[in-house]
Amino acid sequence: MKISDRTRQVEYAIRDIIQYAREYQKTGKELIYLNIGDPVQFDFKTPEHIKNALINAVRNDENYYTDSEGLPELRAAIKEKEEKKGLALDINDILVTNGVSEGLDMTMASIVEPGSEILMPGPHYPPYASYVKFYGGTVAEFKIQDDGKPDIDYLRSKLSPKSRAICILNPNNPTGEVFDAKSLQQIIDIAAEHNLYIICDEIYDKIVFDDTFSGIGKLSKDLPIILLNGFSKVYLMTGWRCGYICMNSNCKELDDLRVNIPKLARVRISTNLPVQIAAVEALRGPQEHIPQMVHKLKNRRDYIVKRLNAINGITCNLPRGAFYVFPKIDLGTRWKNDKDFVLDLLNNTGILTVHGSGFGHTFGSNHFRIVYLPHEEILENAMNKMESFMNKR
Ligand SMILES: Cc1ncc(COP(=O)(O)O)c(C=O)c1O
Repeated sequence: MKISDRTRQVEYAIRDIIQYAREYQKTGKELIYLNIGDPVQFDFKTPEHIKNALINAVRNDENYYTDSEGLPELRAAIKEKEEKKGLALDINDILVTNGVSEGLDMTMASIVEPGSEILMPGPHYPPYASYVKFYGGTVAEFKIQDDGKPDIDYLRSKLSPKSRAICILNPNNPTGEVFDAKSLQQIIDIAAEHNLYIICDEIYDKIVFDDTFSGIGKLSKDLPIILLNGFSKVYLMTGWRCGYICMNSNCKELDDLRVNIPKLARVRISTNLPVQIAAVEALRGPQEHIPQMVHKLKNRRDYIVKRLNAINGITCNLPRGAFYVFPKIDLGTRWKNDKDFVLDLLNNTGILTVHGSGFGHTFGSNHFRIVYLPHEEILENAMNKMESFMNKR
């Protein structure tokens, strides 16, 4: 039986690597999972008031289909949050989705055609490239400099008549880089000059360590900005699958998208109602868990970056947001490429990371991604093992 070519080429390195871990597990040795960015699997738990809101919703029989575009109360709460960050929003320009993942799928489905080129930072979170390719487009990566700022000349050199959108992931996964307002402005100016959509993912907007976060909202004016955000990371609701798309209400050029993207929401009926009710509580209820989480993560970041930079053959920049580090490896003659390194590390130490080329070959190669969500004791054990593994060169 035939399957479509576009399905054949879908890749997701973060989860694809797990098949190798399953093999390792058969040896009965300890596995240290540093591969998936799910805080709830570590010592960051969904806050009680959010859990209770979900439980009460189920008990109160709020278990039916709801509006395809999302629960009006949730859309109103999202409007409050994103308007505080600067984006002008009519409630009808907000769509609730099954995670940012579905929002990204709907966005790419609506704007990518065979031959379209979509610009995105290199490296980037893999589904960005996967969905573009799935819908027949191609990816053009732009370079991020060592200081974490986009290389604007490089970005310009990647523009073509087929360019349709620029993606911004702020903070970025896998590097944890956070763009400042000036860098965002430079990218937006280019998008405006060339009539491109700006797709901006701010799922880690409140997980930023050293500076205050500059969102795209404050710079949005009347530009074609599509903001993607969700509840997985900041509100510790990964498994519940809730996110949203916001379209800049001041932008006339988004009118066609505004009419058509909700059709994709209608064909999949709606998202989970009890979870949406809990999401209202997440946005409107107590927020104390956020600074506590950021404080813990900052300590873990500082620890892991210090340990990694003390290992021969590894260099690591200081990430300014999210919960990932993206160290560079000196492959020497010991490893063929970054995937070979990641598998060798797994087979010798049980440490599961993700190869950098899975986040885009051009800028991800020779790197690997570590999730530093685990408790310091686990990170210490992993770093000790990694250090002795690297010293055996
Ligand atoms: C930048 C970015 N966007 C989206 C997602 C997925 O979000 P969701 O759980 O809302 O689908 C992730 C998850 O790691 C991510 O890093």
